[in-house]
Amino acid sequence: MTETTLIAVKPEIAARAQVDEAGYKAMYQAAAQDPDAFWAKEAQRIAWMQAPKIIKNVDFGGTSGKVSIKWFEDGVLNASVSCLDRHLATRGDQVAIIWEGDDPSSDAKVTYKELHARVCQLANAMRGLGVQKGDRVCIYLPMIVEAAVAMLACARIGAVHSIVFGGFSPDSLASRIQDSDCVLLITADEGRRGGRKVPLKANADEALKTCPSIRHVIVARNTGGAVEMMPERDHWWSDACDTQPETAEPEKMNAEDPLFILYTSGSTGKPKGVLHTTGGYMVWASFTHQNVFDYRDGEIYWCTADVGWVTGHTYIVYGPLANGATTLMFEGVPNYPTVSRFWEVIDKHQVAIFYTAPTAIRALMREGEAPVKKTSRKSLRILGSVGEPINPEAWLWYYRNVGDERCPIVDTWWQTETGGILISPLPGAIAQKPGSATLPLPGVKPALVDNDGAVLEGAAEGNLVLLDSWPGQMRTVYGDHERFVQTYFSTFKGTYFTGDGARRDADGYYWITGRVDDVINVAGHRMGTAEVESALVAHPKVAEAAVVGMPHDIKGQGIYAYVTLKTGEEPSEALRKELVAWVRKEIGPIASPDAIQWAPGLPKTRSGKIMRRILRKIAANETEALGDTSTLADPGVVQDLVENRVR
Ligand code: PRX
Repeated sequence: MTETTLIAVKPEIAARAQVDEAGYKAMYQAAAQDPDAFWAKEAQRIAWMQAPKIIKNVDFGGTSGKVSIKWFEDGVLNASVSCLDRHLATRGDQVAIIWEGDDPSSDAKVTYKELHARVCQLANAMRGLGVQKGDRVCIYLPMIVEAAVAMLACARIGAVHSIVFGGFSPDSLASRIQDSDCVLLITADEGRRGGRKVPLKANADEALKTCPSIRHVIVARNTGGAVEMMPERDHWWSDACDTQPETAEPEKMNAEDPLFILYTSGSTGKPKGVLHTTGGYMVWASFTHQNVFDYRDGEIYWCTADVGWVTGHTYIVYGPLANGATTLMFEGVPNYPTVSRFWEVIDKHQVAIFYTAPTAIRALMREGEAPVKKTSRKSLRILGSVGEPINPEAWLWYYRNVGDERCPIVDTWWQTETGGILISPLPGAIAQKPGSATLPLPGVKPALVDNDGAVLEGAAEGNLVLLDSWPGQMRTVYGDHERFVQTYFSTFKGTYFTGDGARRDADGYYWITGRVDDVINVAGHRMGTAEVESALVAHPKVAEAAVVGMPHDIKGQGIYAYVTLKTGEEPSEALRKELVAWVRKEIGPIASPDAIQWAPGLPKTRSGKIMRRILRKIAANETEALGDTSTLADPGVVQDLVENRVR
């Protein structure tokens, strides 16, 4: 498979698509030529209490150095109205959410009418507990319907939700709650994943020992497992909500009022609170969900992400519900109870659009074709991929075996910061190449720059930047606008720097090559190497640690840690296990190191900077090509590291 392999849009798909090739080109041009007119029109896809007259007002700081991003700034709306109220007259009895439990015998369906009622009840309960517009509410829930209800109820009362993935540790939860001074926590007794229980309430109790800003906790009963309830502070969901009225006045929100905060990892420091606002985010969520998935009324749509990540925010909840879709929420994992689970769920619920991550595809690919082929999958129309580069081999397996060469694959490139998809084929418009995210959506202006910031033309490889704003872009880092400017707008002045590298081929197609900073992508989970390092050095026996990504067949990247012990400490298998457990406890299971190498010394420059380039090569077993090591303070340490590489 070379990069000239072009999988043309099938005529039957083009004929039915909402956007064909000419349509895409016209949209792209219209958005580029007159963004105000284009987005004023697209803004009508959501419900406004007061329609915006001012559309785009953006400064990327090229000349002023001040970064300010505003869209639809005089518009007034409430995101929950777009997702619920306006559908009641036309589709109140349509299923909004299909919930599929971890256990295949448990599922549920919630109509738009029921969802609206449940959201209003929780909104009223939160108001009763004193939560006000602008307050931050932390959500730490498993993949149950209550997670969507909680998000929309926050939106309804103008509270800013901050979801923390249920796999994060008490420490990680606490630091996120502290950073944004959340006043309320919404959690559950326990979560379920792959037949195992996750002690969410117990984790929350541990976290809350250091979170004085939390005044109340609402606890959903999920597994029925025993938990401790602190009088005054903790309230069962059903006690708080069941007697509440089923309507609640939606708060009037300015388009630029915050909708949510979501913490994500960067190259340095602690995870930052990515802040998204209401109007632009909702327009982008709806626009991209409809066009990228060619979504049509009545279709069942399934995104397998967790609501703890941005994909779950935009493509399980806000985008599909804004578009009146039926969205499937899955509590479980791809290989429980068997490796046919995804395909069985597709048949069971007649899923038309299926959106998952390359790591899941690679894991299932290893199980062979039989578990797929024994299912029908005839309902499928569109397949999607997100979260990391998809290797052509996995792409083709997905295309041939899951989609029977009938379903186009949309490989969607985007980030927590971008709010929604930026680069992806539109299925009825753009011929695909396995492994390429293809072309930018209307309103998106990518460019490649070299390390000095010079824009590269034509076929080229470089740093991926965006030259102009799109409505779904993050607006700031919560509580630290300077960090926002430094992180994204200072590397290549006047442009938004993604942190990714990419190649553009002769057809103008983009091939994302991965992060060019110290962020790694482990099974589609974004992780700062600095976070894992600081967890390791917090262990009493560790003097120093350096963490890099290493190639991993299934996870894309694995975590490879070089650890220097304190004088007098001896490496042992027991200590290795202890350190892995330590990192799991400090951050969460997704941060478990795959390999720990005992390093008597680390390769450093004379000024003391660790040369990660060399550590990455050793971890990747590319020891033939270590490059120039002459600037190292002690070139001898490299030889030792090469010889003792963990296999
Ligand atoms: O490196 C890119 C990779 O995931 C990063 C964003 O991670 P996160 O903010 O957690 O959002 C994940 C869900 C959008 C990007 O900087 N990435 C995401 N999608 C792709 C991708 N890399 C290649 N191809 C993709 N389709």
